[in-house]
Amino acid sequence: MSAAATPNVTFRMMRCEDIPRISVIEAESFPTPWSEHAFISELTQNRFAHYIVMEHEGRIVGYGGMWVLFDEAHVTNIAVASDYRGRRLGARLMMELGTRAYRMGASRITLEVRPSNTVARNMYAKFGFQPNGIRPGYYSDNGEDAIIMWANLPFDGGLREADEPSAGQKG
Ligand SMILES: CC(C)(COP(=O)(O)OP(=O)(O)OC[C@H]1O[C@@H](n2cnc3c(N)ncnc32)[C@H](O)[C@@H]1OP(=O)(O)O)[C@@H](O)C(=O)NCCC(=O)NCCS
Repeated sequence: MSAAATPNVTFRMMRCEDIPRISVIEAESFPTPWSEHAFISELTQNRFAHYIVMEHEGRIVGYGGMWVLFDEAHVTNIAVASDYRGRRLGARLMMELGTRAYRMGASRITLEVRPSNTVARNMYAKFGFQPNGIRPGYYSDNGEDAIIMWANLPFDGGLREADEPSAGQKG
């Protein structure tokens, strides 16, 4: 998988009409997927919410969202379609969220992750996320704790090239 090129992708704000496709990716990504209503509520009721989709050839292949409150951003959701994983698109998405949060005034970004989610933890580590607390029994499906992680914005270090189309979009 590592030899596969990173597909050319574009980003835009999530819209309510995207939710059926988002729900398909959500269902293949999480043991307790958000309902369509949860996404609609975020898009229409939460003025701190910022949700984006990542498209490849006009098709949504990933999405992510966060709440941006003053100088802090809280990532609420991030996923890549299962048939697009392992091609650095999760990193593209994370970089896009972090870049947008920074431009909106955030200097720090936080999220929760399962200890068992090795892929996500590896990805977050590359963006400089550090563990800074535990939410005991946070995940309702299996009672797993959540690791609370924080990183500074803008992102720097190992994945900076993911923000640069010449390196991050190898086509
Ligand atoms: C987590 C997720 C978004 C990562 O997206 P992805 O496109 O597969 O990841 P990328 O190809 O961009 O890889 C980014 C980094 O993740 C890590 N990673 C990716 N695939 C991995 C694997 N199979 N095993 C271990 N680490 C892996 C690596 O550190 C990688 O960096 P590298 O390419 O420099 O080695 C994706 O796996 C996903 O949607 N998972 C289900 C939803 C989820 O768990 N979301 C996070 C909730 S906290």
